[in-house]
Amino acid sequence: MDNAARPAPPPGGFSARHLVSIGDLSYADAVYLLDLAACYAPFIRDGRRPVQRLEGKTQVNLFYEDSTRTNYSFELAGLKLGADVVNVQVAASSVNKGESLADTAGTLAAMGASAIVLRHKEPRAPEMLADLVPCPVINAGDGAREHPTQALLDAMTIRETLGGIERRVIAICGDVKHSRVAASSAQLFERLGAQVRFVAPEHLMPPKDQFSTIARAHSLKDGLDGADVVMALRMQFERMEGEQRQDAARGYFERFGLTHETMKLARPGAKVMHPGPMNRGVEIDGALADDPACSLILRQVFYGVPVRMACLDALATGGM
Ligand code: NCD
Repeated sequence: MDNAARPAPPPGGFSARHLVSIGDLSYADAVYLLDLAACYAPFIRDGRRPVQRLEGKTQVNLFYEDSTRTNYSFELAGLKLGADVVNVQVAASSVNKGESLADTAGTLAAMGASAIVLRHKEPRAPEMLADLVPCPVINAGDGAREHPTQALLDAMTIRETLGGIERRVIAICGDVKHSRVAASSAQLFERLGAQVRFVAPEHLMPPKDQFSTIARAHSLKDGLDGADVVMALRMQFERMEGEQRQDAARGYFERFGLTHETMKLARPGAKVMHPGPMNRGVEIDGALADDPACSLILRQVFYGVPVRMACLDALATGGM
């Protein structure tokens, strides 16, 4: 990318030092990241190499939880920008000898890491790390708390597909309670001017004192009415306890499953999204997920790469 095509950094510069929570980004920072990602997207689409903004820099991917999309798109993003990318094989590292996250990260930082991408089951692990290491930390998902780069790629997908996100009605549907994606995406969508709703049975809603500005609906009929976008969430069985785990899917598809038929409750032409991985036949019907006329699911995966390029670029270089 020649520099002329780059968006101007926000007035006063890109201000975030880490990306631990979506709240770390000012409105201007968030818009800048989306604009920068829009510049990178054609390079990925056309298989061209952009200016190697991260040449000489070292990116460490530290994933303590399973991941396909997030892990590989962070790896690709760093490689596309010329970084040396290290994927720590957590299962084969000294973590197995009981080394703490702090010591592992400190070791990697001492080897000259310019950015650490962390996925961890402990909420706030990335925040703790950000206080300890001298380089930017990017949260790739911490327990059920936040997943800020997923929120950015979801916002990007909506913005690029619908031509804008402001005033759009977005229904986030399913296991909101255990979803770090819902937590980050709802906050970002709202900040970008969208009207956001959670759609779920009561036992899959977050506690009442959380997300107080977001409307809640307990049926697809109420929740999808007027929606431009319906975002399905995975039923996160691994975050549920005993009995709840066994009961969670019982009758769920019949009441809340997204199908071509239930999508008729939304605005005509409405799009469906899902962060993946999907439980086909639990929260979403496979035929709907695979229908390119209404499904944006693979587009979300596509935008994962340019959005993460933008995040790495802005954080590791200050956007300058
Ligand atoms: C999500 C995650 O891991 O938080 N997936 C993703 O990053 N694409 C959602 C999920 O696990 O359901």
